[in-house]
Amino acid sequence: MKLRSIELALPDPAGAAAWMVDVWGLYPAEVRGQTHYLRGTGTMPYLVAFEQSDAEFVRSTTFTCSDAELAAIKARVADKGWAAKPVTSTDPGEGAGLLVELPEGTLLRFLAGSTEVETIEGFSKASKRVSPVKLTHVVFNSADAELLGHAVEDVLDFRVSDRTKGMVFVRCNDSHHSTAFARAGFASLNHVAFEMDDLDAVMRGIGWMRDNGFAPAWGPGRHGPGDNVYAYYIAPFGPVIEYSTAVEKVPEDYRTGEPDDWTWPEQRIDQWGISDKDFAGLRVAEERFRCRRDWEPAPL
Ligand SMILES: [Fe+2]
Repeated sequence: MKLRSIELALPDPAGAAAWMVDVWGLYPAEVRGQTHYLRGTGTMPYLVAFEQSDAEFVRSTTFTCSDAELAAIKARVADKGWAAKPVTSTDPGEGAGLLVELPEGTLLRFLAGSTEVETIEGFSKASKRVSPVKLTHVVFNSADAELLGHAVEDVLDFRVSDRTKGMVFVRCNDSHHSTAFARAGFASLNHVAFEMDDLDAVMRGIGWMRDNGFAPAWGPGRHGPGDNVYAYYIAPFGPVIEYSTAVEKVPEDYRTGEPDDWTWPEQRIDQWGISDKDFAGLRVAEERFRCRRDWEPAPL
């Protein structure tokens, strides 16, 4: 199972796409109709889709999986009676599978048979630009993160890696987390994290963002759970986005951490303690994009 992409709807998809290419470092993949698809340097056909809509919302977050994984999810979703429907993707990479609505409305899409693409080579330190490789996690705010952690373990066969005071971290492969549910009191998109080649690429990314007039809303820093390096930004079109790298790989029998395993010394909220966090700005941005189901459930 792999996290592949997020599909967002917003008023100005062309403007958002241009910023994500010119500043954030993605590459144009395709434009189909009014939907702009952007990719990284890795093998995924696209990482972000922007479709045109007067309203801002998350259409889906997409995972790719094998036929056997898809069949197992389908059976458990149907058994549980979650809102879902079969889908055939018309996005780059195609594939088919299902759309699922989690208990608080988070919309996930699982596709089998989706194709991958050649990597983009030519990364050069002579250039100031940086390029994300792929998505590494998409995090959701939630009213009941515990419930969602158990739900995705039971129905999607995901595994909770760690619980902290603020989050329930969830994996779907050997990466410490591909998603997480923040204990926010409401459901929305918390942030989208892009994997960078290495620590240097994250730091150079912060430099390139600075050249373009953007300062991190939080970071650089290194998290506790997952051990990843981060720099969070508020994109001009709304959501919180992150340069990230070095997410911990965990074994199948990883011991699930509890909040008492993840405490910080006073005045610390990450391992380095070198940056401030714009709590208020991040909170506003995190409330902006919510999942919206504009389809009727159908038998799987
Ligand atoms: Fe993150």
